[in-house]
Amino acid sequence: MKQITVIGVGYVGLVTAACFADLGNRVIAIDVNEQRIENLKKGIMPIYEPGLEELVARNVRAGRLSFTTSYREGLQGSQFVFIAVGTPSADNGEADLQYVAAAARAIAENMTAPLIIINKSTVPIGTGDLVADMVRSAQPKPISFSVVSCPEFLREGTAIADFMNPHRTIIGSLDPAAAEQVAQLYLPLRAPIIITDLRTAEMIKYASNAFLATKISFINEIADICEALGADVKEVAAGMGYDKRIGPAMLDAGIGWGGSCFPKDIKALIYMAEQHGVTPHILNSVTRVNYDRRKSVVERLSKMINGLQGKTIGLLGLAFKENTDDMRDAPSITAAHELLAAGASVRAYDPVAREVAQPLLPQVQMFDDPYEMAQGCDAVMIITPWNEFKQLDLEKMKGLLKSPVIFDARNIYNPAEMKALGFKYRSIGRGFNGGK
Ligand code: NAD
Ligand code: UGA
Repeated sequence: MKQITVIGVGYVGLVTAACFADLGNRVIAIDVNEQRIENLKKGIMPIYEPGLEELVARNVRAGRLSFTTSYREGLQGSQFVFIAVGTPSADNGEADLQYVAAAARAIAENMTAPLIIINKSTVPIGTGDLVADMVRSAQPKPISFSVVSCPEFLREGTAIADFMNPHRTIIGSLDPAAAEQVAQLYLPLRAPIIITDLRTAEMIKYASNAFLATKISFINEIADICEALGADVKEVAAGMGYDKRIGPAMLDAGIGWGGSCFPKDIKALIYMAEQHGVTPHILNSVTRVNYDRRKSVVERLSKMINGLQGKTIGLLGLAFKENTDDMRDAPSITAAHELLAAGASVRAYDPVAREVAQPLLPQVQMFDDPYEMAQGCDAVMIITPWNEFKQLDLEKMKGLLKSPVIFDARNIYNPAEMKALGFKYRSIGRGFNGGK
C-alpha cells in the first residue's frame, strides 16, 4: 500500500485524494482552511461534485482517507505529496503562485524523509524548477526529494469519472526513477502514460486548455455566421464532429466558456508568451470572441423585447456550467451586471449554486424554485444547461411569465417546439428557426 499526501481539498485536491484512496492507497489530505478540514471530518463536503460525498465517506470508513491541517502529521510516512492548491490570475494575467510557494515551503519545513513532490496544480512553465529551488532553500537540513509535474485534466461535474478514466496521464520529470514511481500510481487507470520533461508537461496542460477554449470560441463564431445566413449550428457541429480529426466534443455554441480554469489559464499563457516576445494572436482572438458574447446575448435579448429598462428578467442557471456550484468567472455574472446596468430587475434560480452566487450578485433576487422565479418575468434566459431545465413544464412556465419570451443562451430547446408552444423564442446560431 502506497501512502500519498494531497495538499488542498478543493475541486482537484479532494477528488484526487478520494480517488487515490479508492484505488487502495492510504491518503492524507492537508488544507490550511480549518473550516474545510473540520467539516470534512464530519462528512460535510466543501464543494458540490456529484458522487464525491459517497466516495469520501466510503474511503474514510475504510481507514484509507483522512484529513488534517497539520503538514507535520500529513507528511508523516508518505512517499508522495501532490500539490493541488489554487493558481488564480494576478491582476496582470500572470498565474499567482503564492499558494504553491506556501505549500512548497511547508513541505520543506515538515518533511522528515525522502519525498516525490508532484505538481498537480496548473502552473506556469518553469514552476517545477522553481518549486525544487524553494524546497531546497527552505529545508532546515537536506533531505532528498524530486519534483514531478503531473497536470490534471478532469472537468468539474464529472470529476470522479474523469479522474478514473483519463484520456492520458502526463508525467514530467528529469528523474526517471521518480517518473516511474508516479507512473506506478496511475497504472491501475490503464490510460496511456506519457513521460516528458517538466516544462513540456507544464505546457501540455496550458496548450490543452487553450485548444479546448479555442474550439468553443470557434463554434461560437460559426454560430453567429449561421444565425446571419440561416444555418443551424447544432447540426453544423454534429456534422463536423463525425470527422475524427475534429471530434464532437467542445462544439456546443452558447454564451461562451467560463469557470476556474479556461479564463485564468488562457490569460496566463498569453502573459507567458508576451513576456517572451511572442504575440499570441489566436489566444487574444479566442478571448475576445468569448467575452464579447456575454454582452451580446444581453443585447440580443434587449432587441427581442424592445429594451430592458424596467423589465424583470429571470436567469435559469448561475454556475459556469452544469453539475457544479462553481461561480468563478461564470458568464451569468457578466450577464446579470449587463441586465442591471440596462435598468432591468434580475432574478435567478440555480439548483446548487445559490449560496455561492448570492454574495457575488447581491442585487439579484434568488429563488428556490424555477416557476416561482418565472412568475411575472418579462423574459427568461437559459444561462446554464442543467438537465432539470431540459424537462421543465413549459406550458406552466408560459402561464406564469408576463410575456412568453425565452432567450436560450445554451440551445437546450428545440426552436420548432418552442414556436408550437407559443413562445417568442431565440437561441444561438439556429438559423431562421431559432434566430430572428
Ligand atoms: P480550489 O480553489 O477549489 O482549492 C484549492 C484549495 O487549496 C483550497 O481548499 C485552499 O484552502 C487550499 N490551499 C491554499 N493554500 C494552501 C496551502 N498553502 N496549504 C494547503 N492548502 C492550501 O482549487 P481547484 O479548482 O481545485 O484548483 C487547484 C489547481 O488545479 C489549480 O491550479 C487549477 O488550475 C488546477 N485544475 C483545476 C481543475 C478544476 O476543475 N477545478 C481541473 C484541472 C486542474
Ligand atoms: C476544463 C477542461 O475541460 C478540463 O479538461 C480541465 O482539466 C479543466 O478545465 C481545468 O483545467 O480546470 P471545466 O472548466 O471543469 O474543465 O469544464 P468544461 O466542461 O471544459 O467547460 C468549460 C466551459 O466551457 C464552461 O463554461 C462550459 O459551459 C463551456 N462549454 C463547454 C461550452 O460553452 N461549449 C462546449 O461545447 C463545452
